Amino acid sequence: MIYLDNAATSWPKAPHMAQACEHIFMHPIGNVGRSAHEGSITASRILYDCRKTLQDIIPPTHIEKIIFTKNATEALNIALFGFLAPGDTVITTPIEHNAVARPLSVLASRHVKILFSPVDGYGKIDIDGFSKLLDAERPRLAVFTVAGNVSGVINPVEELVASCASRDIPFVLDGAQAVGEIALSGFGEGASGALCFSLHKGLLGPTGVGVMALYGNFNPRALVYGGTGSNSDATMQPEILPDKFESGTLPIHSVAIGLHALRYCVEHADTISRQRNITSDLLWEGLASLKQLRMISPREDRVGLVSVTTKETTISCIARYLFSHQVAIRSGLHCAPWAHKHFNTLAQGGALRFSVGYATTTEEVLKVIDLVKEAMNG
Ligand SMILES: Cc1ncc(COP(=O)(O)O)c(C=O)c1O
Repeated sequence: MIYLDNAATSWPKAPHMAQACEHIFMHPIGNVGRSAHEGSITASRILYDCRKTLQDIIPPTHIEKIIFTKNATEALNIALFGFLAPGDTVITTPIEHNAVARPLSVLASRHVKILFSPVDGYGKIDIDGFSKLLDAERPRLAVFTVAGNVSGVINPVEELVASCASRDIPFVLDGAQAVGEIALSGFGEGASGALCFSLHKGLLGPTGVGVMALYGNFNPRALVYGGTGSNSDATMQPEILPDKFESGTLPIHSVAIGLHALRYCVEHADTISRQRNITSDLLWEGLASLKQLRMISPREDRVGLVSVTTKETTISCIARYLFSHQVAIRSGLHCAPWAHKHFNTLAQGGALRFSVGYATTTEEVLKVIDLVKEAMNG
């Protein structure tokens, strides 16, 4: 199979995952903070090492502010529902994934006012328009994607966060498509907010682990209450981090496997990003040369995905042709109806999204471009 659906979840995962799994399951791993036996200490060490390795990947924050969740969606839900209240205003963008759009739509029904920042044709936030909106509306929060999952456009995150910080407005970043794909530098003085992402996309890890990394004094309410292994005499949820947000047993085995992947990502960051850029650029050029296709993705400032649409042939026919030739891509609306409305692609049923991974080869990309050509001509 030629796997070009890495934006949904990465494949292949980091090398030697099977061996890492075997090692992990051969040794006793207990529950975190529940006891003092060796298995429990091993579990705590795995979580610590994973948080520590994440510190080498994301903008700097304290280790206890790196909170494990089930996925990026859960992290975003905690940050949004745990912070916003009726009467608040929130600024977002018209290209958000449903992981942001759906919580915001529920919050809108609870009297939270939602306003959209100006963006360009690819969905990139216009920094001046964004800052003017912050001044005019004084929102309680700004939530936006670091990289769009339909166009792949990368937002000027550091500038946007600085704009929020200079006005004392917290941010929530959807980093699902960006973390592991692009290097994010520090957020700087006064920045307060959350960065939410999963381990299973750009970080080449297993499904089942997400992260909400907190910055500055951003500290939403917990949404789930229960056992944390700490303060067991108290029936009230502990306020200490990360325990406040980590009730119940964590997916410790998945975190251990994820740690193996993260170490690979850190060690091979340059090679991974070079390879993704080569194949992603080739893909963009090849698809842009097919005149029947409309490019949804920009040439520059984009993560490793390319989306296209067409009026001539329905996109589902092209997708079916590719599936029948063992090519994995994603067609349709990509859980992002707002974005497809913005890109004016709803009538065509959305777009075809091709997303490369670190192991994608130039031969695979060339073959897929030929198959797309055949599908449109046949
Ligand atoms: C931009 C964006 N945000 C959030 C998510 C949700 O990620 P997860 O399914 O890991 O919760 C995705 C998943 O595709 C995404 O592309």
